[in-house]
Amino acid sequence: KRLLPILAGLALLLSACGRADLSTLQPQGPIAEKQYDLMKLSIGMMTVVVVIVFVILGYVLVRFRKRPGQTDIPKQVEGSHKLEIIWTVIPIILLVILVIPTVKYVFEFAEDYSKDKNAVQVKVTSHQYWWEFEYPQYGVKTGQELVIPTSKKISLQLNTADVLHSFWVPSLFGKIDTNPEGTTNKAYFEAPKAGVYFGKCAELCGPSHALMDFKVKAVDDAKFDEWVKEMKAPAVLPEDPALAATFEQKCLSCHAVGDKGGTLGPNLTGIGNKQAIASVLLGTDGTVEENLKTWISDPVKVKPGSKMPKVPLTAEELDGISKYLANYKLNYDNSGN
Ligand code: CUA
Repeated sequence: KRLLPILAGLALLLSACGRADLSTLQPQGPIAEKQYDLMKLSIGMMTVVVVIVFVILGYVLVRFRKRPGQTDIPKQVEGSHKLEIIWTVIPIILLVILVIPTVKYVFEFAEDYSKDKNAVQVKVTSHQYWWEFEYPQYGVKTGQELVIPTSKKISLQLNTADVLHSFWVPSLFGKIDTNPEGTTNKAYFEAPKAGVYFGKCAELCGPSHALMDFKVKAVDDAKFDEWVKEMKAPAVLPEDPALAATFEQKCLSCHAVGDKGGTLGPNLTGIGNKQAIASVLLGTDGTVEENLKTWISDPVKVKPGSKMPKVPLTAEELDGISKYLANYKLNYDNSGN
C-alpha cells in the first residue's frame, strides 16, 4: 500500500518527461541532437561501468564469503601496483573518450554568427517575466513568440533588462544566461522542422520564474516574410473612437500594435492568435477574450511580481479592449498553430 503513492509519483514524473515539446530527449534541431548524443555517450559509459562493478562485487561477495566452520582470518593483501595502475588508467581512458566530443561540441556551439548576413539576427532581452525579441534586419520588435524561418540559422544576442534569466528551448538548444552586467551572450540554433517549440526561463529570477514561458515558432520562408510584413503594417485601432482614445492613452504608452506605441511591455500585434496570454492563461483556461480580461483586470494576481500595473478601466472599456485585442489576428499562418 505504501508503494502506491510512490508509483503514482513516478508515473507523474515520467508523464511530464514525456512532453515532446518540452523534452531534451526528443531533439528537434541539430544542436539539441548533438547535446542528446553527448548525454547518450556519457550515460552509456556510466552504465557499462556500473554493470561491471556490480558483477565483480557480486562475484567477490559469493566467492570470498565466510564458510561454515571457518575461524581463521583470510589472507591479507596490502597494496598491488598492478591493480592500482589498472584502476587509474581505465578512468583516464574513459575521460578521454568523453572529453573529445564534448570539447569539439563546446567550440562548435560557441561559433559566432552575429555578423553573418545569411543568419536571422535576433536581439533577445529578458524581463521579469517575459521575453522581448528584436529583429534589427527587419525592423520588427515582438515579445513571447520568436517567429523564425526553418531555412536559416538564427543568431541570438542575449541581454537582460533586470535580473539574471536563462533562455532555454529544451527540444532545440540552450540554456544561455542573460547577464545583468552588460555582457552580451551569443548563441545560434536552427529549427529545420516547422512547428511550435516551448521555451522556459531556466534561472530562478523571482516569484513568477516558473511562469516565464515563451514559444519558438518555426515557419517556412513565405510565411516568415508574410509575418514580417504583417508586424510592420499600420496599427489597427478599435473602431469606436472613444475606445481607441482610451486604448492609445492607457495601453500604447507601454505596448505597441503595428507601427504605433511603446516598448516597455510586449508588442500586442497579433495577440488574438497567440496560444497563451501572459504565457500563463492558456486556451484551456478560456477563450482569448476571457483570458485577456482576467489578465488586464489584475496582472499581479495572474503573474506575481509582474510589472504591468492594474490599469484603471471601466467594465465597458475592459470588455471593449479585450474584445478588440482578441480579434487582433495575423494571417501569416492560418493553420492555427
Ligand atoms: Cu526569468 Cu526565471
